[in-house]
Amino acid sequence: MTNELFNRPIGVFDSGLGGLTAVKELRKLLPHEDIVYFGDTGRVPYGTKSRETILRYAQQDVDFLLTCKVKMILAACGTVSSNIPKDFARQLPVPFTGVVEHACDAAVKATKKRHIGIIATPSTIRSGAYEAHIHLIAPDIQVTAAPCSLFVPLVENGYIQQDNPVTRLVAQQYLAPLKQANPDTLILGCTHYPLLAPIISDIMGPEVTLIDSGQTAARYTAQYLQDHAMLCEPCRRGTNRFYVSDSTEGFADVAGIFLGSDIHGEVTRIHID
Ligand code: DGL
Repeated sequence: MTNELFNRPIGVFDSGLGGLTAVKELRKLLPHEDIVYFGDTGRVPYGTKSRETILRYAQQDVDFLLTCKVKMILAACGTVSSNIPKDFARQLPVPFTGVVEHACDAAVKATKKRHIGIIATPSTIRSGAYEAHIHLIAPDIQVTAAPCSLFVPLVENGYIQQDNPVTRLVAQQYLAPLKQANPDTLILGCTHYPLLAPIISDIMGPEVTLIDSGQTAARYTAQYLQDHAMLCEPCRRGTNRFYVSDSTEGFADVAGIFLGSDIHGEVTRIHID
């Protein structure tokens, strides 16, 4: 790649806002990099759809980011990452990563009891992708997985306050089997879930380490760009551009909650179909 190519943005996408948890970490690690984010807010959630539909959406999301001339793509979506074929990246002109492997690597390092819990969307849990990767690196590890279908709509609608009674009730019900199984490490296998981390942690207890799949994937992306000498010239502050497939109204406010700061960037609506 020439210098012009290194100065291209990093592309990140998700079904909605969850992937912004990865953007938050990327901004922290790589403040000079430009980031283009696409949130498919018009078609969220992905996690309750068929694999065929998820793959079609993912291909469209990737194709859109390629039109933005990105230098690498992060699928900051557990559902896409766990359903996409292993050789998907090979057909792309830029490096591509999902979130599954990096969260599993971090969880395997963190667990002392050799017991990892996974929570994610129904489609992700059905795919068995997290479990398969954990067993690829550590076949002896016990895995307990549970789907949490309502977490994505709760987060997308801003039901994230630690004392929110609705979210707490739902979380208590979803987490009951995990609490009983008693792993010492819990993968938040959907990038929306870190927004519920305070509630999840309250229920699971302080001795359970939570692994944020958006954060671990962002760390991998930063390391990859550095290892392959693909970082931009560090002479300026990076810019952010946000694209969504539904109304832009209110996006900045909710996205600001995910990012933990102002969005610092333009928001544009596109037609993804
Ligand atoms: N953030 C997506 C994930 O990581 C949410 C999927 C959905 O839209 O259901 O799985």
